[in-house]
Amino acid sequence: MSLKICVVGSGAREEAIKEAVSSSPMCAGLVSSFDDNPDLIIFGPEQPICDGLVDYYKSKGIACIGVDKKFSRLESSKLFAKKFMVDHGIKCAKLLPVESDIFPQVVKADGLCKGKGVKVVYNRTEKDKFTRKIPKPYFIEEYLDGSEISVMSYFNGKKLINFCPARDFKRLTSDIRSPNTGGMGAYCPVDLSDAQLQKLQIYLDLLQNALICEGADFNGFIYSGLIWSRDDWYVLEYNVRLGDPECQVILNLLENDFLSILLNNEAPVYKKGYSACLTIAAEGYPDSPIKGNEIILPDDNRVKVYFASVREGNGHLFSDGGRVLSLCTVSEDPFPVLKNFAEKIHMNHKIFRNDINIF
Ligand code: AMP
Ligand code: GLY
Repeated sequence: MSLKICVVGSGAREEAIKEAVSSSPMCAGLVSSFDDNPDLIIFGPEQPICDGLVDYYKSKGIACIGVDKKFSRLESSKLFAKKFMVDHGIKCAKLLPVESDIFPQVVKADGLCKGKGVKVVYNRTEKDKFTRKIPKPYFIEEYLDGSEISVMSYFNGKKLINFCPARDFKRLTSDIRSPNTGGMGAYCPVDLSDAQLQKLQIYLDLLQNALICEGADFNGFIYSGLIWSRDDWYVLEYNVRLGDPECQVILNLLENDFLSILLNNEAPVYKKGYSACLTIAAEGYPDSPIKGNEIILPDDNRVKVYFASVREGNGHLFSDGGRVLSLCTVSEDPFPVLKNFAEKIHMNHKIFRNDINIF
């Protein structure tokens, strides 16, 4: 097999996907556009998936890796996802009446909001302020207390192939009231207790059965955002794509060929140690990041750098968005290496989380 592959999307996650697929013996080369007659299209971000591009290109006879329009609603409609879970016995937070004044509670906008449509609110004032600015409809759910993991799975049309649990750091800072972002860092694997592992397998079996029972007929990624609460896993959200930065840490820890997992039914095999990622963002992120700052990277071959929002001009690199760089490494203790590298990056208005670690 020798495939011309198009990876849709342009962030750090897609850089990592391109690196993984282009190192496969099954890849004949990468093409950057649908017009270059790819044999296989791999979709990175949710927007083209939710817009139905997978269905469109499949109808043209091109193999696609991406969830179809019907199941993309697991991400684009939180209410659709809730119904899917309730129908299939998957545990999730209970819905509360919109006017509920039990605090804390969680406000969730129904549509795609790039991580900005969800907030844990602690009082009426916070709730009113947040609900005024988000798209409607929104709903309210009970607050669950616990530690979170992200589990990414690949549905190959028949069964789920699950990647090891990862943890991402969604908040901008360690302050629990700081805003959610696309992700300030991540690591994998997450060490889980036997009870957690056992309950995770039960959940993943339920998810697989739910997809099969609902007639799922796509090859694509499902991301489960899970929280360990009341001695069980509860689903906080579904995404219909790989997480960013969770994708980077999983792909860097993979020992075997990513394309063999996607196309030949192989199970993932991992290197030893922990794989970690640290996001370099620009001050002002997530609301209004300062752009256009020159970036000079230190020399350290232990660290891989993926560009999230970087512009090149006259042989120089410039920041061009909120999340700018994704730094990755694999070792027994990866975060000190990444933080040291991050300190040494020259970029005005850079921010990163110095407090995150394996836990
Ligand atoms: P979501 O986009 O739904 O994953 O929500 C973003 C973040 O909000 C999650 O990673 C959690 O930290 C938090 N969150 C969402 N729903 C809940 C909930 N029901 N209870 C507690 N925290 C939540
Ligand atoms: N890191 C969370 C996400 O990709 O949605």
